[in-house]
Amino acid sequence: MQDLNVPTQWREKTAAILEKRPRVILVLGGCDTGKSSFCRFLATELLACGHSVAIVDADLGQKDIGPPASVTLGRVTGTAERWIAVTEELYFVGSTNPVGRMLPLVIGTTRLVGAANAAFVIVDTTGYIDGAGRVLKGYEIDAVRPDLIVAMEKRDELQPILRSHGTYRTERIRPSPKARPRDRWQRELGRKQAFAAYFREARRLELGVDEIIFQRSLLFTGEPVPVEGALYAEHTPEGVVAVAETSVAGADIAKRLRPGFERNLLCGVTDERDRGVGLALLESIDFGRRCVALSSPVPAEKLRVIQLGDLYLARDGSELGRVDRAGL
Ligand SMILES: Nc1ncnc2c1ncn2[C@@H]1O[C@H](COP(=O)(O)OP(=O)(O)O)[C@@H](O)[C@H]1O
Ligand SMILES: [Mg+2]
Repeated sequence: MQDLNVPTQWREKTAAILEKRPRVILVLGGCDTGKSSFCRFLATELLACGHSVAIVDADLGQKDIGPPASVTLGRVTGTAERWIAVTEELYFVGSTNPVGRMLPLVIGTTRLVGAANAAFVIVDTTGYIDGAGRVLKGYEIDAVRPDLIVAMEKRDELQPILRSHGTYRTERIRPSPKARPRDRWQRELGRKQAFAAYFREARRLELGVDEIIFQRSLLFTGEPVPVEGALYAEHTPEGVVAVAETSVAGADIAKRLRPGFERNLLCGVTDERDRGVGLALLESIDFGRRCVALSSPVPAEKLRVIQLGDLYLARDGSELGRVDRAGL
């Protein structure tokens, strides 16, 4: 934060926030306008005045708090010079891109704003504000019902969102002249480093399939059935889920997964109350022994639910591919 440029207007708006005390503050703006910089500034100013501050980081790709592909709730501590945000809870979205993942993004943001236990809750968002991004922001506002919207605007790019939510209190602010755009390569590198940092302390875990719950896939929701030519198959009300190299004939196949589909799949992990506690990388599923091997920094005793994601990832954080459109 040493080289943070603080425009006079940022100080004025912060003073007004301290006086009027809106509890939930949603920060909107295009890419690289300085939303996260403003969130950090505001958080540390509020903290310096003795208030408890939480940040809900709903930008999936360029995270300030916690790992990418998830909405995170951080409790802010430290000082303006040295800010610390400890991740208290997360909601796994499954992808670093909001396209096609708007429902979990809105649900996660709403849930974590609800879970935040602080005098001020600052919500940082993606810079996706046109087209589908504008629609997303509208629903985020509808779901979160912020007490204040802070609109970081270069010109009038947020006007469609703000006009259609004119019943909300809004403060428009200008980006700092020091705000710098990041190119695609820098964004990818930032994500890779954030994932790598998250998985640095990961350990290998082996868990019985029947001791845990699987979400976001039809797999492990049915009853095992023998199917000729399949490594594993299950009967579900939607038909048979088969793990098989080639299409299997003669069965009512609802879904076919390729053997090894699970290798390096990024997953979310929740606890016994279904609260997001971290991420995991699947290594393998042994269908014969009914056990799953994965690596995660989450201790095994906290891990109750595995939510299958959309992204394949190496331990060093590089993205290896995505689940195809048909999903899991
Ligand atoms: N007030 C500021 N002072 C110094 N640098 C800034 C300021 N605002 C933004 N930047 C820089 O511009 C870039 C984008 O800012 P960031 O806060 O990450 O934007 P956003 O969250 O909107 O994508 C970063 O490199 C950041 O350090
Ligand atoms: Mg940001």
